[in-house]
Amino acid sequence: MGKKLYIETLGCAMNVRDSEHIIAELNTRENYELTENISEADLILINTCSVREKPVHKLFSEIGHFNRVKKPDAKIGVCGCTASHLGEEIIKRAPYVSFVLGARNVSKITEVIHKPGAVEVDIDYDESTYAFSDYRSSLYKAYINISIGCDKQCTFCIVPATRGEEISIPPDLILKEVKKAVEGGAKEIFLLGQNVNNYGRRFSSYDKRIDFTDLLKMVSEVEGVERIRFTSPHPLHMDEEFLKEFAENPKICKSMHMPLQSGSSRILKMMKRGYTKEWFLDRAYKLREMVPQVRISTDIIVGFPSETEEDFEETLDVVEKVGFEQIFSFKYSPRPMTPASEFEDQIPQQIASERLSRLQQMHNDMLDELSKNEIGKIHEVLFEELKPGGYVAGRSDNNQIVKVKGSEELLGKILKVKITDAKRLSLEGELL
Ligand code: SAH
Ligand code: F3S
Repeated sequence: MGKKLYIETLGCAMNVRDSEHIIAELNTRENYELTENISEADLILINTCSVREKPVHKLFSEIGHFNRVKKPDAKIGVCGCTASHLGEEIIKRAPYVSFVLGARNVSKITEVIHKPGAVEVDIDYDESTYAFSDYRSSLYKAYINISIGCDKQCTFCIVPATRGEEISIPPDLILKEVKKAVEGGAKEIFLLGQNVNNYGRRFSSYDKRIDFTDLLKMVSEVEGVERIRFTSPHPLHMDEEFLKEFAENPKICKSMHMPLQSGSSRILKMMKRGYTKEWFLDRAYKLREMVPQVRISTDIIVGFPSETEEDFEETLDVVEKVGFEQIFSFKYSPRPMTPASEFEDQIPQQIASERLSRLQQMHNDMLDELSKNEIGKIHEVLFEELKPGGYVAGRSDNNQIVKVKGSEELLGKILKVKITDAKRLSLEGELL
């Protein structure tokens, strides 16, 4: 009988993909089957995030819980960014953990399960050409990594310390993955990296010059690919060529993530983001002009060290001017190994919380206005999931969740839908 694997994934899309790789490796090489029941698992894994302090606390409460409910001889392993960052300290604090596997060492999963006490967290490890076994958690959407690590040094961010320097995956390997995915039924290809539009700056074993715009063209030429999405691009690298390809290639979905972080040029400089408020606005206006139907999402941090009321108002000003359709907003969280954690003038929690709620309130009001305009619009939706009450849900080209009445036969199809009801976070419509 096969052994059972339970895995919990925290954090970003890269972590979701890393978990898929772990599941695939353990299945093909070690005969593990997934289970959703911890108490029957032989191996329990948590794939962690360390980008803010909250998910790190969550790690220790989760593994404590695993330890109480697991079978007596089941192993617990800690993977991902917090594994990279805390390393052996995890086993010191929680001796029942049998191994620690960093975010850049995923391909070593089949080794560490046989090495009690193993700590594999080398951030210089190069797995950019490792051929992982196949597994996809979604039938119609395939996540595909195009790079590992991140070369930016944003002063608030722990990712460069947990995932190491940026290396692009050679295009022939990416195209092979894309072909495999569409042969397996995928309609949508989701390209992943910390900084996707910096693609091609450094390969470890490929010597032609190719950039992200070239890669987008190559992926869109693969037969069977119907939709392309990617995350995350960096505003600094949104050059004309890239925007033109985004606008003109019909397979590229018209939603763009533009992580702003702050609207104050002074704070952006302290964050080492490499752009100013004016540059960001210029790119966003250009994008709206070239692609009128685009939805723009963003990430914003409030309460960065020394942020004044005026700085914060600059952020609100950009939010208003760009009219982001989606905002992921966070209170600044000082992270170990990052320059900003040592900056003077850290902002009191209370002020950061107050700014966060002002930002969210303002954005909710904007969304209420925006959703009114959705009624009567027509969207192309890729249906992916059955929902209670006889509904099927999917995402529109511009990345809104849309549901219609229907059943299994809609799954995996891209169909036109006319919107009849609009809420802040989801739309309902009827098939045309
Ligand atoms: N390149 C990735 C960044 C990963 S971190 C991307 O663009 O998605 C994701 C988001 O978490 C960042 O964009 C930032 O808004 C937020 N973040 C990162 N470090 C943070 C910190 N120390 N405190 C609060 N939010 C942070
Ligand atoms: Fe982090 Fe900045 Fe890279 S937010 S992941 S260092 S682009």
